[in-house]
Order: sequence, then C-alpha cells, then structure tokens
Amino acid sequence: MIFRQLFEAETCTYTYLLGCEFTQKAILIDSVDSEYETYIKLLNELELKLIYTFETHVHADHVTAAGHLRDTLGSKSVVHRDAGAMCADLLVTDGVELQVGEIEIKVLHTPGHTSGCTSFVIEDRLFSGDSLLINGCGRTDFQQGDSATMYDSVTEKLFTLPPDTLVYPGHNYSGITISTIAQEKALNARLGNNISKEAFIKIMDNLDLAYPKHIDRALPANQSCGQPNKSTTAVRQG
Ligand SMILES: [Fe+2]
Repeated sequence: MIFRQLFEAETCTYTYLLGCEFTQKAILIDSVDSEYETYIKLLNELELKLIYTFETHVHADHVTAAGHLRDTLGSKSVVHRDAGAMCADLLVTDGVELQVGEIEIKVLHTPGHTSGCTSFVIEDRLFSGDSLLINGCGRTDFQQGDSATMYDSVTEKLFTLPPDTLVYPGHNYSGITISTIAQEKALNARLGNNISKEAFIKIMDNLDLAYPKHIDRALPANQSCGQPNKSTTAVRQG
C-alpha cells in the first residue's frame, strides 16, 4: 500500500493519502482545500487515480478539498450520514466496508466530538480524526458534541482495537505524527489509564476553550463539501 501523511500547518491538520499499488486507485482522508495543488502534484507523481475523499467529520477549522477534487478529478466524497453534509456522494454508517483496489476501509461511527464523526480502519492503521488525538481528544462543546458519547466511542470502539494498531489522528499541535492504541490507552491525558466516564466529563466541562476561530466560515462551507456557493447533485448510498 502506498501511504503518505501530509500536514497543513495553519490548522495543524493531517491529511492521509492511501493508494493501491496494484490498481493505482487512491483515497484521501481529511483533505484541506488550501493544499489542493499539493494533492494534484502528488497524485500525478505517484501515478494515482483518486477515487474517494473521506471526511472523519464536518470540520470547523478548515475547508475540505472534497468538492474541488470532485470537480476536477471525478472523485466521490464520503461522510457519515449524520454529519450534515448532504452534498456528499456517499453517506456511510457504522460498520460499512468499502474497497478501493486492494485497500479495505472499515467505517466506525465514533460520535462525541461531533454527532457525525467517523474513524476509519485500514489494515493495522486507525484514522481517528478528532475522536482520538495523540494524548488528547477533540472538544465536545460544538456541533452536537457530547462528552459521555465521546467516552463511549473511544473506550468501546477504539480502545478495543488490537493494542498495536497505529493511530493516525486528525491533528497534532506538537509535531507528533503517530501513536498506537496501547499508548493512548495507557497515557492519553484525557481518556487513558482507565479513567471513569464521570472524571472524563469533568475534564471536558472544565476545558474553558475559546470560540473556534474559523467555525463560522468553515462549517457552512464543509456542509457543501467545501463549495458553499455551488449547488451539487447528491447521489446517496449507505
Ligand atoms: Fe474537528
């Protein structure tokens, strides 16, 4: 499998490119529109054809490149049914499995940061979006976020994956690129060390975070796959 972890510096967002070396078919997870040219160049260099763009959720901090890439490359955008992005080509739910060449992608619904959050399992890798960050997790005070739901998603769905599963998060603000389920179970400052649900909720209730800087621009844009002024024809499945 061809694999690249890409970084958008303004919002510290990780984007993941995965390609099948047998069919040259590829996917992007959590693309950022300002990085569009980088993706085009990389896909060309690696001779990959982009089939899907996946969103772990409707982002509040950056605008997705999904619509832009769909227009130019014909890729299909994939989000969870509850994400509120009816512009997508494919609306998925928990347990859905997709195949791109030889790459098998399993969808896990992991709400809590938002109601439509998903994580994706591909081989021994977990793409956890903002549901599970390295030594942290996404905030739960916007977009139908809920701390108790977040706790259940992480402890029941993500922490039950094999301990050596590689964790690739949606962001990291300290330059750390990778973790494992075992590491997060033991050391995650918010969710590790068998913390109780009550204690986790208390931590989240007391974060006292600032209003998300780009939310008023990014949310409506992402509910339109990054193209708020453009009407799209949705083909819904899943
Ligand atoms: Fe987020």
